[in-house]
Amino acid sequence: MNATELILKKREGKSLTESELRFLVQGYVDGSIPDYQISAFLMACYFRGLAKDETATLTRLMLHSGTVIDLSDIPGIKVDKHSTGGVGDKVSLILAPIVAACGVPVPMISGRGLGHTGGTLDKLESIPGFRSGLSIEEYKNVIRKTGLVMIGQTREIVPADKKMYALRDVTGTVESIPLIAASIMSKKLAEGIDALVLDVKTGRGAFMQSLEHAADLARIMIDIGAEFNKEVLAFVTDMNNPLGVAIGNWLEVVESVECLRNTRGTNDASSDLMEVTYTLAGAMIMIGKKAGTIHQGITKAREAVHDGTAYAKFLELVEVQGGDRDAITNLERYPVSRFSLEVKSAARGTLQSIDPLELGLTAISLGAGRKKVDEAIDPKAGILLKKKMGDSVLPGDVLAMLFTDREEILQEARERIRNAFRISQQPAAPPPLIVSMIDQKGQRSWPPK
Ligand code: URA
Repeated sequence: MNATELILKKREGKSLTESELRFLVQGYVDGSIPDYQISAFLMACYFRGLAKDETATLTRLMLHSGTVIDLSDIPGIKVDKHSTGGVGDKVSLILAPIVAACGVPVPMISGRGLGHTGGTLDKLESIPGFRSGLSIEEYKNVIRKTGLVMIGQTREIVPADKKMYALRDVTGTVESIPLIAASIMSKKLAEGIDALVLDVKTGRGAFMQSLEHAADLARIMIDIGAEFNKEVLAFVTDMNNPLGVAIGNWLEVVESVECLRNTRGTNDASSDLMEVTYTLAGAMIMIGKKAGTIHQGITKAREAVHDGTAYAKFLELVEVQGGDRDAITNLERYPVSRFSLEVKSAARGTLQSIDPLELGLTAISLGAGRKKVDEAIDPKAGILLKKKMGDSVLPGDVLAMLFTDREEILQEARERIRNAFRISQQPAAPPPLIVSMIDQKGQRSWPPK
């Protein structure tokens, strides 16, 4: 076999056999096939797609490119959640400690920022000292001890996705249903879960912009889960606007900590973030058999925030994984960007929407994400929103604050962000945040009628 022939075969829209896919995946992981050939293959997949069984095979091959962790000796139903990627989407940071505080063990392997979206791993690593590259033994010890563990892929765990994900990020090959499904499900199946809740984003800031594509992606991942005997429940959620107020790694940690401390998230600009968080957490708590229904799970999740147990769990996690607890308890001590700039409105009216794609891309140029595979991230960089959908705006009002060490891009970033805010005289009608719920039985509206 040779890689060029397989690239051509996919380019012609033909299906690859298991041994052909194995040749590519193994060859990429062991270094015998170079980045440029896998990039071409991924681009062919992007344009030609993969059949359902090819996607399942690719997932299995990626999964077995590394170790599949066995957590069967840890009591409880282990449930994780994964998002297909959004802007300002820091749900995992808040939800994982909530669910663990409610008694459901959460093993989580997350990715880095991808395309215009942020990654949980980059956010966690903005916490000084936080170790996301645990060995498998350490991973098991952390979940045994705290009921929660959050790491990234290592050379041991789904190395194929670790390499392909980084490559897709910089080769325009992210927005592909089979590639996203295989990437997410290989990671999730490797971490030792019993069940999974998916947050499949739809809208302008999502990789799947249409509802139809988002639902297709959800169904493919549910089917892959079923092949591996894992219950998968998906929510399709809106990403036509950013979630919460912060975009950028440390800024998002700060917002998450404030939500966990219950000083944000109720009737304020983070309440959209908390609505998604509580819904997904409620589903995980129900699947983990600590509540009879999703709504009872949501009530438990809210209680864990109100009584401080979720915040305590987050602090415990940070400490156990080597992070600086004081950085979380004293958020204001963190270094600040060399430059900050207010973006002011020139218009009067009601804020209709904030373009999440523009925000995500601008945050990357401020230093919060990567333009090349090996680029370092500036954890301090990013955007804080000062207005949200439905707010009234007057000329001169501050719409957002920008933070960066890169002075040269500030003016351009300001214009991009100003243009990302759509203000008009119409009353604003924000779209529903949770669009639908999908499981093996099909798609239903949310909340259930
Ligand atoms: N999240 C992932 O882990 N992989 C993708 O391809 C997209 C989102």
